[in-house]
Amino acid sequence: MASIWARKSTAALLQEAAHAEGDAEAPPFKRSLSALQLVTLGIGGIIGAGIFVLTGHAAAANAGPAVTLSFMLGAIACAFAGLCYAEMSSTVPICGSAYTYAYATLGELIAWIIGWDLILEYAVGAIAVSVGWSGYFVSFARDFGLNLPQQFTSAPLAYDASSGAWTSTGAIVNIPAMAVIVVVTALLVIGIRESARFAGFVVAVKLIVIALFLASAASAVTLANWVTPSNPQGALIPPNAGVGVYGWSGVLRGAAVVFFAYIGFDAISTAAQEAKAPERDMPVGILGSLVICAALYVAVGFVLTGIVPYDRLNVPDPIAVGIDAVGIGWLSPFIKLGILFGLTSVILVMLLAQPRIFRAMAHDGLLPAFAAKIHPRFRTPHVSTIVTGVIVTMLAGLLPIGLVGELVSIGTLFAFAVVSIGTLVLRVSDPDLPRPFRAPAIWLVAPAAAATSIVLMLGLPQDTWIRLAVWLVIGLVIYAVYGKRHSRLRAGGGM
Ligand code: ALA
Repeated sequence: MASIWARKSTAALLQEAAHAEGDAEAPPFKRSLSALQLVTLGIGGIIGAGIFVLTGHAAAANAGPAVTLSFMLGAIACAFAGLCYAEMSSTVPICGSAYTYAYATLGELIAWIIGWDLILEYAVGAIAVSVGWSGYFVSFARDFGLNLPQQFTSAPLAYDASSGAWTSTGAIVNIPAMAVIVVVTALLVIGIRESARFAGFVVAVKLIVIALFLASAASAVTLANWVTPSNPQGALIPPNAGVGVYGWSGVLRGAAVVFFAYIGFDAISTAAQEAKAPERDMPVGILGSLVICAALYVAVGFVLTGIVPYDRLNVPDPIAVGIDAVGIGWLSPFIKLGILFGLTSVILVMLLAQPRIFRAMAHDGLLPAFAAKIHPRFRTPHVSTIVTGVIVTMLAGLLPIGLVGELVSIGTLFAFAVVSIGTLVLRVSDPDLPRPFRAPAIWLVAPAAAATSIVLMLGLPQDTWIRLAVWLVIGLVIYAVYGKRHSRLRAGGGM
């Protein structure tokens, strides 16, 4: 029996990719996604709560007008990791993403840890964004005179990240957050092409919203808005006022906060088996969507802090505050509607990715076989999509956003670090493997990706680290009890 460190041979992985894992139990995925659809899926998964909500917080509390620099730093960290993801997804185009890459490079145990960790990125990420969705939905409804009852629109407990205290909100359950998960899950069961089409429509809507915002607010930008009590000289980087509060340390902390805005580009790699030409199109999808989003984020950060003094931006709807400030309040409901669509597509991509990772893990015997089932007609992993949907729906109704947001970031950064190291390991262990896309200067790019991910992780609070550790320990227990005994690789079957 192979050890828990055994890695899957790349030959076996390539064979899996070629046959798209088709067998009697599990017919193959449909290969229907073009490069453009992959870029669309990427943008669909990236632009969401990060830009529409967290930009204001990062500007007000950490970076000031230099939030643009925070976005640039975040983009650089993601670009390093994105190059590694692009290389791995073109070399091993299997739907498991970071999980599969770890299996091929660092062995089964690390693969399991990453597969388990990715639940934080995708399932918990969908919860975080659905709670943000609910907040905008309530605010949008209020614009039309409809006051939704608070008992049914927020979580029963609130969590204060700075003190770690829990307080009762008096609410019972967050119904809008649950409803959006149910609708998205239903769409995902019906089909990837339908889901990609929906994502295409939504991406167009949110790009229009951002373009409208930039076009209508750009002429009102004035550097006079950089002047605040904490920045009397109106500098790009306000004077430091404590660790993580303005100055360069604030820019860094701001980058850790807005990192959330970039999460999602890696999700495209989970659709590798549904891409028409994954070797060519995965890098285009991953890097293309990342570059477009980075450019838009820097522009939004610049315009927003140029039209409103940054100390007024620590609100749940900073874009709406900006629009009011330049006297185009009539745009507000349209923008909120666009944001609702935007958040929906992020949820869609996250809930698209999660079952595909479960499927890859079940295919390897690390999760029960039912999670690998593909619907005979819709050809989607319907069982794992529905199970994920049900659990995420329940938690979306109950959990506060503060708790889950940072968990998503730390889980994702951990996966980035491991994938980057794995990319380098594979270059050494299988130097001759055909790599349709080779990341340039891999000895620089991969270590830089791992290092920047770890630095951003260090920017997150200790509580979040403890939660990550607890989550990983739970995962290890499950591996010891189930995965280790059922692993197909360790049993010597099918690999
Ligand atoms: N990048 C995604 C967002 O901003 C997670 O919502």
